[in-house]
Amino acid sequence: MIPTTLSTPSELAYTAAVRRATDPIYQKVRHIIPEIEWAVHAPYIAAIEELKRTRKALILAHNYQTPEIFHGVADLAGDSLGLARQAAESDAELIVLCGVHFMAETAKILCPDKRVLIPDPEAGCSLADSITAADVRLLKERYPGVPVVTYVNTSAAVKAETDVCCTSANAVEVVNSLGAERVIFLPDEYLGQHVQKHTSTQLILWRGHCEVHERFSGEELRDYRRNHPGIEIVAHPECPQDVLAEADYVGSTSGMINHVGERKPAKVLLVTECSMSDNVAVQHPDVEFVRPCNLCPHMKLITLPKILHALETMTHEVEVDPQIGARAKSAVERMLAVGRGKQG
Ligand code: 13P
Ligand code: SF4
Repeated sequence: MIPTTLSTPSELAYTAAVRRATDPIYQKVRHIIPEIEWAVHAPYIAAIEELKRTRKALILAHNYQTPEIFHGVADLAGDSLGLARQAAESDAELIVLCGVHFMAETAKILCPDKRVLIPDPEAGCSLADSITAADVRLLKERYPGVPVVTYVNTSAAVKAETDVCCTSANAVEVVNSLGAERVIFLPDEYLGQHVQKHTSTQLILWRGHCEVHERFSGEELRDYRRNHPGIEIVAHPECPQDVLAEADYVGSTSGMINHVGERKPAKVLLVTECSMSDNVAVQHPDVEFVRPCNLCPHMKLITLPKILHALETMTHEVEVDPQIGARAKSAVERMLAVGRGKQG
């Protein structure tokens, strides 16, 4: 039994030892995190690093986590597809998922024998909340025999009703892999409209939206182009179609990061959640990031103090009903098999 060692505030001081231990990380992030702010983060980072070793935990972080989490304590970071793969491939018995609930649930679905903790169980997602398993059952009754593709931004119960899952990184590939005339594509209407442009399969869509990406507008982007000639506009496919029409590149969060790395534009606008620009700016100090961005209130519920608390108290453990989990696992594994070039 691993002892529970709750940190007291005095243990979380910015001492000379903490400063030395965290300085290599600070040197990476110093142009986006001021020193006065680092003095608050560093004691938590040092404490989390220590406890992570004791607990033999793996910390996975989504690309929308704040820089002190993304660069400070994450062992691996990525988009939804990357996090699902890393959870499946890891031999760690304890995973702390710094992201929203459906991401932690996907890790648990893929690894039912591992303990998966989420630092704040209230970290939800407007897309996941837009559809229930009962809705999917009704759609299947309405369109008998039409296969169902569901975005991973859904609950385990919705995934269990699904033939195959997808993420924004592989949605076109997954739809095409079915070779069907029609597919029920859930729940993100805008991602579905984007996929529809790249497939001959007819998609039946649902009216789910991401509350963060639906706030951008094409007009806003045209203004940015006028005010910043030559700017590269990179957008996430959860944005409405008039926004995507203005973008030079559309892709998943990791696709967006790779695109900036390959193109190294002088100026870029990442049409997505705010922390993405901060995290990518660390790797590309020569690129100017022009920001309108929107905050995801759910992603922002995850903080360093809550990660430390999760490791200290071994909470909040993600549980999935084994029967639902087994059915959801097939849908997620079929998606991963498409990525590996297999049909499953
Ligand atoms: P990615 O799979 O592109 O990381 O997107 C997940 C998400 O929630 C975007 O809002
Ligand atoms: Fe959900 Fe949108 Fe937040 Fe992504 S950014 S987790 S889709 S609410």
